[in-house]
Amino acid sequence: MLCQLTIDGQPFSFPLEGEFRWGRDEVLFDKHREILSGVDWQERGYSIFALLDEKEQEQLRDSIRGLLVRILAESNIVIPENFRLEDYHRYVGSQALHGEVISKTRFLTYADLGIDFGEMADRIARYIGHRLSLENPLLEKEIVILRISRPQSLDINPPHRDGSLDLWEDVLNVWIPVAGSNAQSSLPVIPGSHQWNEKDVLRTEAKGAAINGLRYHVPGIIQSRYGLHLIRPNPAYGDALLFTPFLVHGAAVNQNPNTTRMALELRFYGG
Ligand SMILES: [Fe+2]
Repeated sequence: MLCQLTIDGQPFSFPLEGEFRWGRDEVLFDKHREILSGVDWQERGYSIFALLDEKEQEQLRDSIRGLLVRILAESNIVIPENFRLEDYHRYVGSQALHGEVISKTRFLTYADLGIDFGEMADRIARYIGHRLSLENPLLEKEIVILRISRPQSLDINPPHRDGSLDLWEDVLNVWIPVAGSNAQSSLPVIPGSHQWNEKDVLRTEAKGAAINGLRYHVPGIIQSRYGLHLIRPNPAYGDALLFTPFLVHGAAVNQNPNTTRMALELRFYGG
């Protein structure tokens, strides 16, 4: 089926494979309001937070570059010495090669990056007034994702809510732009959509949605009774986009002509 949506008012559609059903009469967010109970953006569901100073952002970028250079070497992908993250698509053109890379960047751990994520969690915890930890008791191993979106590609996931999966119900999503992120490529969200009733959401089951043959763990949302009208809050470098896992987000199509976008996706546990 075709998933039709708008991003900042601009129509966009792509084929989304799966079996779709309207959900049950329940608001998933209702049982998990605690994490956002002290913030003034509870209704909107997301906020931009100044997380890193310039030096820290640079360290993060360097660390990700180092990691990616290692991963590309493992796949025998040749890159120049002065490789820039934004040029990734020039060296990883084929779907097969890209698939090989993201099979690794989708399952990183905190230790892979040599960054003080504990300090990040502390800063965000102070900002929202709720404890956060790196350890999710429902997971054997933490999952840190480096999202790579090549320009003019379908390197996207469908609109979804991480909170549709039990293991992500009590987290805060943290999305950090790393490279090539701007008003044409950053993560779209639907303000207030965490309060939507499931009966108003047409979606697949878990592991039931695929784009371009790539299957996603979270249920993919193809439509809602309110439409799918996303906006890009577009956090600057050094900022993090914080949002409840029940907020509908995704479909981060990269509309830049010639720049790969990379972002770090974290989920801090607040249960
Ligand atoms: Fe997500």
